[in-house]
Amino acid sequence: MVSINVTVDGRSESHDVEPRLLLVHYLRDVVGKVGTPIGCDTSNCGACTVSFNGQSIKSCSMLAVQADGGDVLTIEGLAGTVETDLHPMQEAFRECHGLQCGYCTPGMIMAACDLLKENPNPSEAEIREGIEGNLCRCTGYHNIVRAVQTAAASMSGTGVSS
Ligand code: FES
Ligand code: FES
Repeated sequence: MVSINVTVDGRSESHDVEPRLLLVHYLRDVVGKVGTPIGCDTSNCGACTVSFNGQSIKSCSMLAVQADGGDVLTIEGLAGTVETDLHPMQEAFRECHGLQCGYCTPGMIMAACDLLKENPNPSEAEIREGIEGNLCRCTGYHNIVRAVQTAAASMSGTGVSS
């Protein structure tokens, strides 16, 4: 076993873990952050996307021991980063019906937040490219793109909704 210290959603976590434990299993089974789902376990679907040291990563493609000393933000901590109940990206997904079954949604939102950090005003094509690592089998992506556009407008303070 290996001792690791990781900040998860602003809280310091210290655990002894097996060297082969994936970060997503650590988050869900050890820390209890079950808001981060597992879709494929093979780094294809993006459902397990979290922010690690400020960059979105697929948490099934990283070992928990590699996160030692790092800072992880999951969908469960996202709302806590702003003053309102929901983060503007979460609010926009709700408002624009950017989800159906919701399985892809936590990862999609984390990836979309990362996109807006790099490009606060993306075009539709840039949004589609920015979330291409995150698969959705329900929505056809149209409302997801609208949600990201809405969040971009609300986060830039223009209030324009699409
Ligand atoms: Fe990680 Fe699918 S569960 S990419
Ligand atoms: Fe069902 Fe995206 S809403 S997979």
